[in-house]
Amino acid sequence: MLILGIESTCDETACAVVRDGKEILSNAIVSQALLHEVYGGVVPELACRRHVDVIIPVIEEALAAASVSLSDIDAIAVAYGPGLVGALLIGVNAAKSLSMSLNKPLIGVNHVEAHLYAAMMHMPLPPQFPALGLILSGGHTALISVDDIDTYTLLGQTVDDAIGEAFDKVAKMLELPYPGGPHIERLALNGDPKRFPFKGGIVKGHPLDFSFSGLKTSVLYTLRGQNCSYDQLKEHGNNPWELSEQDKCDVAASFQKAAFDDLIKKTRLAIEGTGATEILFGGGVTNNKALRNAFQIAFPHTQLRWPEVNLSLDNAAMIAGLGYHKLKRNPAGDSLDLEPATRIPFQRKQN
Ligand code: KG4
Ligand code: ZN
Repeated sequence: MLILGIESTCDETACAVVRDGKEILSNAIVSQALLHEVYGGVVPELACRRHVDVIIPVIEEALAAASVSLSDIDAIAVAYGPGLVGALLIGVNAAKSLSMSLNKPLIGVNHVEAHLYAAMMHMPLPPQFPALGLILSGGHTALISVDDIDTYTLLGQTVDDAIGEAFDKVAKMLELPYPGGPHIERLALNGDPKRFPFKGGIVKGHPLDFSFSGLKTSVLYTLRGQNCSYDQLKEHGNNPWELSEQDKCDVAASFQKAAFDDLIKKTRLAIEGTGATEILFGGGVTNNKALRNAFQIAFPHTQLRWPEVNLSLDNAAMIAGLGYHKLKRNPAGDSLDLEPATRIPFQRKQN
């Protein structure tokens, strides 16, 4: 079965053709990173306009790269949320138009669930359920019990910034381009992670929830020289503190370590609570090699399932892949009344 997937939740316009939920025939993507770089973050209005400009060429590119035509496609899957409403509208309307004109089912896919599915796409057999899912993207940070493909229970999530957002904001403070995650990772390679005692936040009464805004503020104060030790300030001569390249690397390394230590601590708690033997990782931050190494060291006896290179950032192959499983459960697909959803909350686990 051939599914055409469409993704336009944020600043990537993507289309893919996937056979039977696994075999990726094409995975076309137009990134808007350069468009938003000068603003230090995604400007929704600009993102929507760019989606309009490129959606049809991207669909054509995906079909051509897969060497198939629209008449070969069995169903249209689309990320209907969560994301920016204007951006979602473009993908959802393109998918509805295709579904209507081809008379093929329309399948609405939750973008965050698809990030978790991305980690399963290359596995010959499904993971051992329940597995633990860890979503680490620019818009979401969540620990999820994956009870089956398509069945999820929320264990914990961020109460403020998503981890990727925190990386992007810290990068902006260090005057690095958007998206900042890869730049922080690069600086951290040459930095001392123990130099600044940063810490991830604790959410009272919710040990599996995340909070990164305090961590981000600590970095800001450190950069302003407000919580440096007297010796550190003296070493740099005066206040405000002039940052050397080494200082920047140390800030990046200390921030990154604090964020990853926090993820590991909460993942450990979640594993103790669920007994999961596998972790599925999803979202752009999973591109980070230091993150992968840190988890490998912290969980030597747990199967760590990382998405393959082209599947960690936003992409349409994961949408088409999960769409296939949704179609198997609901062959008629969704109604053409499907609306974009800016937020799609997961159900919390009842204690
Ligand atoms: O999953 P994604 O493409 O988009 C959302 O659904 O949000 O993730 C984008 C996020 C950005 O915040 C970006 O800075 C972050 O992933 N990111 C990284 C790395 N590569 C991308 N963060 C840390 N280290 C990286 N190597
Ligand atoms: Zn994403």
